[in-house]
Amino acid sequence: MRNSAAFILLFAFAFTGCDNGGNTAAKSLESIPNLDTPGGKIFKEFCSACHGLPSPTVHKADEWANVIERMQVHRIKKAYLPLSDEQKQDLVNYLKENSAG
Ligand code: HEC
Repeated sequence: MRNSAAFILLFAFAFTGCDNGGNTAAKSLESIPNLDTPGGKIFKEFCSACHGLPSPTVHKADEWANVIERMQVHRIKKAYLPLSDEQKQDLVNYLKENSAG
């Protein structure tokens, strides 16, 4: 009995723990610039489904494209439609322009 309880706990942890982007969210939406631009709108719409909207400053310009590719994999795993090439381009441009440099 003790073993099966431990097993259930482990099982629950494996499925609920840590698949939501952890502490990714920006402190407030107002701190995020240019959300009304084409890329900013995509960012707001597509990047807060699994975790809070991160700040564009958490990565440097040349890192964002890789992060977006990883998020595409997360989308596919959740059976969300991946972003189109055009959406991805607008989004990466937005993130680069507003990044940490
Ligand atoms: C389908 C769910 C999902 C969506 C949609 C999603 N993310 Fe994530 N995100 C995750 C998960 C899961 C993690 C934690 C694992 C990891 O880092 O890959 C994460 C982590 C992150 C991190 C922290 C890790 C790092 O590399 O800095 C950032 C930043 C991030 N996401 C940005 C984005 C952006 C930008 C978008 C919009 C394109 C986005 N996410 C959309 C699931 C998602």
